[in-house]
Amino acid sequence: IDSDEQILIDIHTQSTDLYHHILMNTEMGQSALDYLHNRGLKDETIDKYQLGFAPSNSILKTFLVQKKYKYQDLRKSGLFLEDDNGDLKDRFFNRIIYPITNEFGNVIAFSGRILNKDDNQAKYLNSPETTIFNKRKVLFNFSNARNTIRKEKTTILYEGFMDVISAYQSGVHNGIASMGTSLTDEQIYLLQRNTTNLYVCYDGDAPGQNAINRSIGILEKTQLKLGVIQMPSGIDPDEYRQQNGESKFKSYMHSALESVISFKMHFLKLNRNLDNENDKINYINDVIREIAKISQPIERDVYINQISEQFGLNKIDLTNQLNKLVNRNN
Ligand code: UTP
Ligand code: MN
Ligand code: MN
Ligand code: MN
Ligand code: MN
Repeated sequence: IDSDEQILIDIHTQSTDLYHHILMNTEMGQSALDYLHNRGLKDETIDKYQLGFAPSNSILKTFLVQKKYKYQDLRKSGLFLEDDNGDLKDRFFNRIIYPITNEFGNVIAFSGRILNKDDNQAKYLNSPETTIFNKRKVLFNFSNARNTIRKEKTTILYEGFMDVISAYQSGVHNGIASMGTSLTDEQIYLLQRNTTNLYVCYDGDAPGQNAINRSIGILEKTQLKLGVIQMPSGIDPDEYRQQNGESKFKSYMHSALESVISFKMHFLKLNRNLDNENDKINYINDVIREIAKISQPIERDVYINQISEQFGLNKIDLTNQLNKLVNRNN
């Protein structure tokens, strides 16, 4: 790490402190703090994640100029918007601030959430790419979760920051999230070095289901042992905690774990009517294609039996078709 990068990290550390102070101790932060409390976050959790609030008065610029940071460094930090005259003003305003850390725990970026859903703007706003923030490399909470991940050899991949934070507050300390995008090669590399099992736990809505399917498609090509933790329909993990409490959250993470194939069997049914012959045949073909990806013959047999029973199909026919695909995969 060179000294230019260290200055940008210092700027982020100072900014984190300021935003956190505003949230916890000032009138400006009161409505944001109420909002987080209403979502069931404890002060201890807010403190652990150093959550903050960016008010609307470009207070960050004033603060950092007072601390004698140079214009060029402020510019490179990504924390400011620049107008035509080169004047800087705070990028984040009227947003709850989630510090994003690198794998060593240094704050390198922020994500900011609007307080009110009806605002006509993106719910989350992320820092732009800088010399210290490469979105492709970052996994939210990885630095916090690393020790638990290495001990338990298991990681849970959530969709959102609040899901990870909810999990943490519930005693599930191996949660991470990407930055609202598909997993990148760099993130997968980081995971492969640190975990054996990876469980995908996304939102129980249609975008969440599609995103699970997409992530599995990417992760299937790795050595990671995959599983899916399916949320009840319509809610995300954070909402599950809000509705059911922390101890139920924690036990749900164990009890709802399912195999990739059982997720696929469910997923491939969506948008299909299995009373329709064509849909049914396509479904069965798709499921057999998924079963063919399983490396253990005994495991394949278990699922072929399921399909055979479920649809009253001849097991030998199913197995023949399966074996053609298995041979092609090898
Ligand atoms: P969600 O829409 O599921 O948000 O997006 P959430 O995590 O449940 O947020 P809350 O509970 O309303 O606060 C999942 C993730 O996608 C990214 C964020 O990382 C978010 O956590 N996202 C979402 C963005 O980057 N920008 C957006 O405008 C929305
Ligand atoms: Mn504090
Ligand atoms: Mn979602
Ligand atoms: Mn969500
Ligand atoms: Mn949510």
